[in-house]
Amino acid sequence: MRIINLLLLLLSALLLAVLPTSQEPVGAADDVSIGIGIGIGGGGGGGGNAPPGRCPPPPPAGPRPSDFVNVLQYNAYKVIQRFKSTITCDPKNVTRTWTGPRPCGYTGFRCDTPPGLTDTPTIASVDFNGFGLAAPTLSGFLDGLPDLAIFHANSNGFAGTVPCLTGLRFLYELDFSNNRLSGRFPYELLPLRNLLFLDVRYNSLAGAVPPGAFLLGVDVLFLNNNGFSQPLPANLGASPVKYLTLANNLFTGPIPPSICNASNTLIEVLFLNNRLSGCLPYEVGLLRKATVFDAGSNQITGPIPLSFGCLGKVEQLNLAGNLLYGEVPDSVCRLPSLLNLTLSENYFTSVGASCYGLIKKKTLNIRRNCVPGLPGQRPGWECAQFLAKPKCCPPSTYIPCALHGPEEAGSRAAGLPEEEETRTPPSVAYTAIHDPHGKK
Ligand SMILES: *[C@@H]1O[C@H](CO)[C@@H](O)[C@H](O)[C@H]1NC(C)=O
Ligand SMILES: *[C@@H]1O[C@H](CO)[C@@H](O)[C@H](O)[C@H]1NC(C)=O
Ligand SMILES: *[C@@H]1O[C@H](CO)[C@@H](O)[C@H](O)[C@H]1NC(C)=O
Repeated sequence: MRIINLLLLLLSALLLAVLPTSQEPVGAADDVSIGIGIGIGGGGGGGGNAPPGRCPPPPPAGPRPSDFVNVLQYNAYKVIQRFKSTITCDPKNVTRTWTGPRPCGYTGFRCDTPPGLTDTPTIASVDFNGFGLAAPTLSGFLDGLPDLAIFHANSNGFAGTVPCLTGLRFLYELDFSNNRLSGRFPYELLPLRNLLFLDVRYNSLAGAVPPGAFLLGVDVLFLNNNGFSQPLPANLGASPVKYLTLANNLFTGPIPPSICNASNTLIEVLFLNNRLSGCLPYEVGLLRKATVFDAGSNQITGPIPLSFGCLGKVEQLNLAGNLLYGEVPDSVCRLPSLLNLTLSENYFTSVGASCYGLIKKKTLNIRRNCVPGLPGQRPGWECAQFLAKPKCCPPSTYIPCALHGPEEAGSRAAGLPEEEETRTPPSVAYTAIHDPHGKK
């Protein structure tokens, strides 16, 4: 601005000098010379001699290492700037804040001093939840922030494969949910001993889930809504996980009997909508902490083992849409915490006496089965066709608990006024499959 003023002034001075001066007051020329003098002095020198049309000097190229609080932040700065240049979509314009030598203040980034250091804050947490950013890969970014403890990126457009995060030894929460990640299960995460929360739901990951996934120390493992296939690893029950979602994938094979080893920890588990087969294992009945067990929409067969009458905490039990048969055990219909028992679209032929009460209360859905006398059952020929096929699941009559007596039956629901609708409580695992945008 100042240079332009200067040029204008010079031009007018030139004109004044060329024009005949006879009619001009003497004072005007004096003013111009004063103006020029001030202009040159204030301009800081140099610019005054620039030939007309030359661009002003470029702004200084980025901050220098000495501008940063510490070298860790300088390194993070370089990684973030590189990543920023690959971002193809930024609907909330968050990356406009990603400039200058204070990366701790960039939108989405937070700093903390890593364990073992003192007073050396660096990027410890990245939260891009809901930003809608898109980039062809997270490689070179995530793996370039070695002190990261938390990465949340729900509902963005990150593509490519999961980067190799073996070097992120402090990482304990990793949420890639609802992105466009592809490739196999991220094997590179398996050595991360501190990981407590792993959420890769709603991506396009495929292939087998390795046994190592169930050796992670996680509380939460959300793998739902991907393209995972192959049988579930036999060591599934070795996992200390509390909330496990395997729903809406292409898993095959049986529910691993090792699931009983999770009886002290597993609270909610969703096998829903896969291609699981085999007999419903007796070991499920040992999940004494489970409030949600859902193996609906698979090809699981067999009778319901009597051990299911030991699921004392279970509120939601869904086995609908399978190839189950036999009698629905009376003890299952007497489970004390039961709020929703869904057994529709199977081939059960009878129900325990206590089940009729649940049907009336609409706690039990047994539509499209083969129970004589109940409404909405399958046509006779369909039942006959299924029942004529050989059955190989052993009757499972062992009961690993003291069953709940009739006096306890439906005690939870019984406490509610009759007309009040039994509302199912919010479930961590069901939220994970029903709401792709749900964030931690
Ligand atoms: C983003 O922010 C920059 C800098 O403030 C601004 O120039 C640009 O127009 C903004 N873009 C959008 C899409 O809002
Ligand atoms: C349960 O864990 C024990 C010891 O950790 C192991 O020996 C056993 O094989 C596991 N059970 C199943 C069914 O895998
Ligand atoms: C009961 O569970 C089934 C299967 O998960 C679900 O489709 C249904 O909506 C649930 N009913 C209620 C009232 O929550």
